[in-house]
Amino acid sequence: VLMPGDPYRARWAAETFLEDAVCINEVRGMLGYTGTWKGQRVTIQGSGMGMASLSIYANELIRDFGAKTLIRIGSCGAMQEAVKVRDIIIAMTSTTLSTPSRGILRELNFAPCADYGLLRAAADAAEARGTPTHVGGIYSSDVFYDERPDLNEQMTRHGILGVEMEAAELYILALRHKVRALAVLTVSDHLLTGEALPSEQREKSFGDMVEIAARWRVLGVVGHAEHMHMRGNAYAADLTMAPDQGAWKITGFSLTEVDRSDAGTLERNADAPPPGEDS
Ligand code: HPA
Repeated sequence: VLMPGDPYRARWAAETFLEDAVCINEVRGMLGYTGTWKGQRVTIQGSGMGMASLSIYANELIRDFGAKTLIRIGSCGAMQEAVKVRDIIIAMTSTTLSTPSRGILRELNFAPCADYGLLRAAADAAEARGTPTHVGGIYSSDVFYDERPDLNEQMTRHGILGVEMEAAELYILALRHKVRALAVLTVSDHLLTGEALPSEQREKSFGDMVEIAARWRVLGVVGHAEHMHMRGNAYAADLTMAPDQGAWKITGFSLTEVDRSDAGTLERNADAPPPGEDS
């Protein structure tokens, strides 16, 4: 289950990424959809803003619907110079003043942490794609309009990457119910520089990139001591394209297949240029 805070982001993500998406919840406008992505059944359910709201949806998904994997896809405010607007933060752990689980955890300063398998897979995927990504601690706050700038200063000083309002309780619930959780966040604003993305882009910033599964063949002539022959290799790769200063650029390249098996037997494309003298 993917859980954006914004129900419109749930609708947009379902329409953009899922096949055969069906709306499964409209109660209180908290839209949810189930469909398939590359053959996997995926639900995208809005969580609302704040840990109190997320707690209701995450509890019901786990208890009543048997959800085993919950991934928050949200936005956050950056708290470090090195983190830029639009970068991705993968939250290893989340610091809080309090969460809805405070009543259970009482005096404990519990450290909510992400599922390591999900974290590693997300970090590997981000690296393969070339997306600027930071993995580390975040701060789950109960307030957006913060009256304690000194707290933010302490977070920055202690290496916290960004602030949002939901991940800590999601991690605590997942740990309590023995399911997997992760938060993957796009940086929508910067607490140190004051920079911010317009709201329309916040909803869709995950879609700024285009993924292309590309296949191509390379034909050449290979020269040996006594003869030359034509050779064709086939390749496949997942490319990520992203807009950069008005042009689409390849930002990620992950080679998925190399096939040298039909060396010498490949026919040339009719419109391919003639092979050169060298390989
Ligand atoms: N504070 C809390 N939550 C947020 C922020 C923020 O600055 N930006 C995005 N979610």
